[in-house]
Amino acid sequence: MKIYMTEDYQAMSRKAANILSAQIILKPNSVLGLATGSTPVGMYKQLVIWYEKGDLDFAEIKTVNLDEYVGLEPTHEQSYRHFMQEHLFDHVNINPANTNVPDGLAADPKAECDWYNQVIHRMGGIDIQVLGMGRNGHIGFNEPGDAFELETHVVDLAESTIEANARFFASRDDVPRQAMSMGIKSIMMAKKILLMVSGEDKADAVYKAFTGPVTPQVPASILQLHPYVTLVGDKAALGKLMEAK
Ligand code: F6R
Repeated sequence: MKIYMTEDYQAMSRKAANILSAQIILKPNSVLGLATGSTPVGMYKQLVIWYEKGDLDFAEIKTVNLDEYVGLEPTHEQSYRHFMQEHLFDHVNINPANTNVPDGLAADPKAECDWYNQVIHRMGGIDIQVLGMGRNGHIGFNEPGDAFELETHVVDLAESTIEANARFFASRDDVPRQAMSMGIKSIMMAKKILLMVSGEDKADAVYKAFTGPVTPQVPASILQLHPYVTLVGDKAALGKLMEAK
């Protein structure tokens, strides 16, 4: 695993954007696995800046997002489809037909997940998967205790995740209780992983994930077994791990 520790959030965002840009430049028809949440916002901003300068071309890029809330329409402010439009897709020359996010309003979420898996397989798999990490070590919406061998599936959100995400909704009651998420198996099948972490509140999860045992209790710990992981984080998030190394 390659680790880049940066001074702060901005430097982390720039480093992650560099890595993703290299992928886009070297393979212009890459399949990018993308994440939402607060961590990658700065990276998307940087990619848009480089696109506007003429340094990046998304014309042949395909994307597949990690997850979506069950029950939120694509235009809902907190839906992950909306997030992706707002932070990246609306600002670059990506073909909308090449962007994939599970449909939060699918009548049958399980069937939607099965279809999503087919989409990923038909595209030939994911070239690089961007991940953030929850304070409980989750990746995607794979919560502690979830089985490692699943592809995209319907998940019940952990109380701690509902709590953490409540800040984005009018009230805690408005946070959806379920999501569709790529499973650990989908993530592990990606050719490369780019894991981004920022802030002191992630330091314990990062430490446990990369110094402890590989266990479903810390979903990100499975990444110890992936052959090509790049971990990019700021000092606040990586400090504890780096001290132990
Ligand atoms: C987002 C996702 C989540 C987040 C994680 C960290 O698509 O799947 O696993 O990456 O919850 O969220 P932030 O970045 O908001 O701390």
